[in-house]
Amino acid sequence: MKDFVFKMPTRVLFGAGKAKEIGALLAERGYAKAFLLTDENVGKLPMFAALEEDIRAAGIGCVACDKAEIDPSIESVDALAPVVRESGADVLIALGGGSPIDFAKAICMLQTHEGSVRDYLFGGSKAVTGPGMPLIAIPTTAGTGSEVSAASVITDNERGLKLSVTSDYLIPSLAVIDPALHVGMPAFVTATTGLDALTHAIESYVSLNAEPISDALGLAAIRMIGENLRLAVADGGNMEARTNMAAASLMAGAAFVNGGLGVVHGIAQSMGALHHVAHGVANGLILPYAMERNFVGNLKKFSDIAAALGEDVTGMTLREAAAMAAEAVFDLVQDIGVPSTLPEVGIGKADFPPIIEGTMAYRLLAINPCKLTAKDVERILDRAFEGRYRV
Ligand SMILES: [Fe+2]
Repeated sequence: MKDFVFKMPTRVLFGAGKAKEIGALLAERGYAKAFLLTDENVGKLPMFAALEEDIRAAGIGCVACDKAEIDPSIESVDALAPVVRESGADVLIALGGGSPIDFAKAICMLQTHEGSVRDYLFGGSKAVTGPGMPLIAIPTTAGTGSEVSAASVITDNERGLKLSVTSDYLIPSLAVIDPALHVGMPAFVTATTGLDALTHAIESYVSLNAEPISDALGLAAIRMIGENLRLAVADGGNMEARTNMAAASLMAGAAFVNGGLGVVHGIAQSMGALHHVAHGVANGLILPYAMERNFVGNLKKFSDIAAALGEDVTGMTLREAAAMAAEAVFDLVQDIGVPSTLPEVGIGKADFPPIIEGTMAYRLLAINPCKLTAKDVERILDRAFEGRYRV
């Protein structure tokens, strides 16, 4: 076994109704004024106003803002950072899916670092050198893992790229995971964010960076997602499925923070920047086709995935069992109604070259279980263009 570092610095409060405790939590920590940030969609939901009320009821000041951009751009982060500074808040609370939490991470960093967020993106001129403003994340979806991760994904619209600011200093200090907040999530969002979590779990499990703790978390998350995602999509009010998905998403987040990701996230990030395909849609679409290419890189682990997703692999050779992992994911994607071909999301073959270029530049491609060339990525995209079903 190779040496490894395992990190999980976020304190997690988990349970239905936990978000109601936010006022007491802030008071306990001695905060005087919170900046409560979300996007315009979540801003319209009663949970946003309720959270503001709970914070104020605890005698803590609150500035409520719904200006977190979905797929945050450099410009929107740079515009909101001084607003937060001038508000006098001493803690930032991010409510929402991955976008508001990623947005908030960059905003918190810029409270203690000079310049534009552009300077701190991958390949930029500046490094994150210390803690930012304290950040508390309250996810409204079960999938992104942003509440425990070190990355803030930002879109550079000028260059048509999604890039990350990545630093352990960006990891939220506290995450409040309240599955009761997930009940109203539309079925499609449940499906696509759930597939994002599955992609985290699978990519970290088979990554060249995997270690025993990330493996344990990843495989358990794969099993829980296999058992619960269909149920949560079919009936959003199924609290047991919602709670299990929230836990699985958290475990998958902790797995990928340590084990890393791979080619699926590379392609999804490029598709997101160039064609605004939602992150979970892109991951769910690409995941099985990438697994078809990757399984030869680790037959044992892909056979584990097949079994964890409920495939009966008894009597099969290791290769046959490993190949079943992609089949199981195809079935899941089909069952929960997520696009499974590129034309369905408006991507044609003429769009391939910049997607391939972006994928080849992806930082974590180096830990994909197989070394992939541009031709390999093109082949994955070709398969995703053609589409297929279980054979
Ligand atoms: Fe993701």
